[in-house]
Amino acid sequence: MARYYELKELESKAPKLFGIPTGTKLDEMFYRIEKAGEGYVRKPLGGIPHLAVINITGVPDTGKSLLAEQFAVKQASSGYRLLFVTVESPASFLYSGLKQRSQAMNVDFSKVEENVVVIDAAEDDELRENVRALIDTMAYAIKEKKCSNVVIDSVTGLYEHREVMARQIVRQIFNFLKKFRQTGVLVSQKRSAQASESAEAAGGLAVAHIVDGTVVLDKKLIESRWDVSLYGLEIGDVLRTLRIDGCRLTAHDTRTWVFEITEAGIVDIISPLPEFIKRKER
Ligand SMILES: Nc1ncnc2c1ncn2[C@@H]1O[C@H](COP(=O)(O)OP(=O)(O)OP(=O)(O)O)[C@@H](O)[C@H]1O
Ligand SMILES: [Mg+2]
Repeated sequence: MARYYELKELESKAPKLFGIPTGTKLDEMFYRIEKAGEGYVRKPLGGIPHLAVINITGVPDTGKSLLAEQFAVKQASSGYRLLFVTVESPASFLYSGLKQRSQAMNVDFSKVEENVVVIDAAEDDELRENVRALIDTMAYAIKEKKCSNVVIDSVTGLYEHREVMARQIVRQIFNFLKKFRQTGVLVSQKRSAQASESAEAAGGLAVAHIVDGTVVLDKKLIESRWDVSLYGLEIGDVLRTLRIDGCRLTAHDTRTWVFEITEAGIVDIISPLPEFIKRKER
C-alpha cells in the first residue's frame, strides 16, 4: 500500500544544498539566500545545485554540447565519475571533443579518461528508441562505475519523430536520475520556429516542466545599424546569450548574460547584457 510521511521523517532524506561546479561563471549564478542581521545575503553555490536535473536548451549551434562537455571535464578532472550518454555524435567524436575541452581548460586529460563513462546511443538504435533499454544500461553503468553525475546530449534525440512521447520519456529519465541520486545535465534542442529565447524545447514544454531548472542559450546575428550601435559589434557578428530560466531548487540570477565561445571551444560567460551594452558605449 502507498504510504505517507510525517514531515520530520523526511529530514534525513532532504538533499543538502551545495554546488556541483561546471567550470563556467554559471557556478556563481545559482545561490542560497542567507539571513545576515536585518537583511539577507546571497551565497553562490559554486555550481549547479547538487542532485538537480538541469536542462540546457537552445536552437542549433548555440553551444549546448560545448557547455555539457565542459561540465563533464570539470567534474571528471576533479575526480568525480560522470556518465555521458551521447545521442547525437558517435562516442569517438565525443572523445575528441572532451580531449580538446580538457586541453583548453588546462586539466589533466588522463583523469578525464579515467572518470568519464560513455554510453553510445548515437550508434545504437535500440538504446535511442527504447528508453527502458537505455535506463537499464545507465543503471548498470552507474552502479558498476559509481557515477555521481550524468550528461545526456541530447534527450531530443530519444524522441525524434515521436514528439508526443517527449513528456513520458523525459519523466522516466528524470525519475531515474532522482532514484539513483545523480546530478544531471540534459541537453534539449529547440526548433527554430520556437521563440528562441524561451525555454520551450522540441516536444513542446515537456522538458522545461519536468526538470528542476533550465538554462537557455541563444544567438543573435548582428544585421542592422541599430544592432551595431546598440551592441558595439560589426554587421555579421554573432551575439551569444545565456539565461537561467527558472530553477526550483534554489535562488538564481535571472539576467540575460553575454558569452563567447573561444577558439578552443570553451564557453566563456562575460557579463550581463546591460553591462555589456554600457561597456560598448564607452
Ligand atoms: N574548438 C571548437 N570546437 C567546437 N566548436 C567550436 C569551437 N570553436 C568554436 N566553436 C563553435 O561552437 C559551435 C558548437 O556549438 P555546439 O556544438 O555546442 O552547439 P549545439 O548547441 O550543441 O548545437 P546542436 O543543437 O546542433 O547540437 C560550433 O558550431 C562553432 O561555431
Ligand atoms: Mg550539440
